[in-house]
Amino acid sequence: MVSFLAGMNNTKFTTDPQKMEEIVSLCKRRGFIFQSADLYGGLNGCWDYGPLGAELKRNLKDYWWRKMVQEREDIVGMDGSILNHQAVLTASGHVGGFSDPMVDCKICKKRYRADQIEPEDLICSEKKQGKKEERLCELTEEKDFNLMFKTKMGASADDNDPNAVAYLRPETAQSIFSQFKNVLDSSRQKIPFGIAQIGKAFRNEINPRNFTFRSREFEQMEIEYFCHPDDALALCDEWLETRLSFYEEIGIPRTQLHVLDVPDGERAHYSAKTYDIEYAFPFGIQELEGVAYRSNYDLTQHKTHSGKPIEYFDEQAGERYLPHVIEPSAGCDRTILALICEAYDQEELTNDKGKVETRTVLRFKPSMAPIKVGIFPLLKKNAEQVKIAKEIERELSAYMNVFYDEAGAVGRRYRRQDEVGTPYCLTIDFDTLGESGDELKNTVTLRHRDSMEQERVAIDELLPKLLKLIK
Ligand code: GAP
Repeated sequence: MVSFLAGMNNTKFTTDPQKMEEIVSLCKRRGFIFQSADLYGGLNGCWDYGPLGAELKRNLKDYWWRKMVQEREDIVGMDGSILNHQAVLTASGHVGGFSDPMVDCKICKKRYRADQIEPEDLICSEKKQGKKEERLCELTEEKDFNLMFKTKMGASADDNDPNAVAYLRPETAQSIFSQFKNVLDSSRQKIPFGIAQIGKAFRNEINPRNFTFRSREFEQMEIEYFCHPDDALALCDEWLETRLSFYEEIGIPRTQLHVLDVPDGERAHYSAKTYDIEYAFPFGIQELEGVAYRSNYDLTQHKTHSGKPIEYFDEQAGERYLPHVIEPSAGCDRTILALICEAYDQEELTNDKGKVETRTVLRFKPSMAPIKVGIFPLLKKNAEQVKIAKEIERELSAYMNVFYDEAGAVGRRYRRQDEVGTPYCLTIDFDTLGESGDELKNTVTLRHRDSMEQERVAIDELLPKLLKLIK
């Protein structure tokens, strides 16, 4: 397989199942990610983001949107419907061919994705006369399993009424392609330009696995970048670089990324170039994003199936054509998982009493961290400290997500914030009240998560200083 390193060093990669278990447990304990319908035994392949997970996801999506749409003149956004028309997905080829190979075990009836079977999966256990017996699964012939969730719309009683059939979209891309002409006409963009979208996608994965990595409901952050065919290959390389830089900016270094230059025979038939950007997850090096040159396959399909003229007209060159497209398609949930895995750290520290303790810390970039600042009065019984802490909370919360905490020893409050990745904590203490003299009056302790260093900062200077730090 042709692959190269984005920066990943050459030391051999090893999986770390224990780290993964710790991360899954922290995600539940601290309110990042819960199994959907946990109360009822769980809905397989579906996940709910708790208070901190929702903030983290919002930070990622907002940053992606800012960098990929707001700060670029050549990209506009859209937000398509989740329910997709059958005709759109027939044209795109999803109705006919969006499937994975599936096999069943004839004995235990377990279902496997044929191209992803691990030998250890193939064990079925039966109870015979009260005893558990294990044997190898006996597999059926492979068959194609369409991954789309199909549903019925409206009150039509006719099962064959094509207008009553709809699908939960398996990718956000197809609404971009099918709205290409409307967006072009309404935004008056000129080639090259892109249409970006963030939204839910649904695939009835045969074996959802590795926490949120392979889910049945997930979110994508996709761009279709339309261009002249002569420029496509160069733009594909440019987009790869843009996307690698993006991951660095959010806290995933190149040393943890791997680029797979997908070889002939493994790319989609219409693609002359596809890069997979992969991340070294604790369970293996796996895809985060694809950067694919899709030729003008999708627009050609939609033009043919709809019978409508959707070509682009280049006035200067007097040329009418169906643009080609480069598609950077990222998984939002996979990026969140990579951010958490990358941030997760445990370090040993010796406390004041000489005892060695383990500090769990999520080293998120401040821009991604769900909580930016923890705010603590040193003593919750001290009314003046509490009053100042609440005032600071009120002022900062208009600009960033903060967390007020007055419960327990301050050291424990720091640890609780370390564990959820809060980059800064403020403590309002007796010095703030002026008990050590005027010099420290109206100052607070600002504690840095990573270095654990503390500095005194005037209350008046907190907002501008923190805004700079969390940018
Ligand atoms: N429009 C192109 C497209 O959808 P894809 O490689 O099938 O391409 C793009 O999906 C990205 O969506 C993947 O790189 C991955 O990050 C994310 N993704 C795909 N299937 C997923 C799943 N079952 N669970 C979570 N994320 C998924």
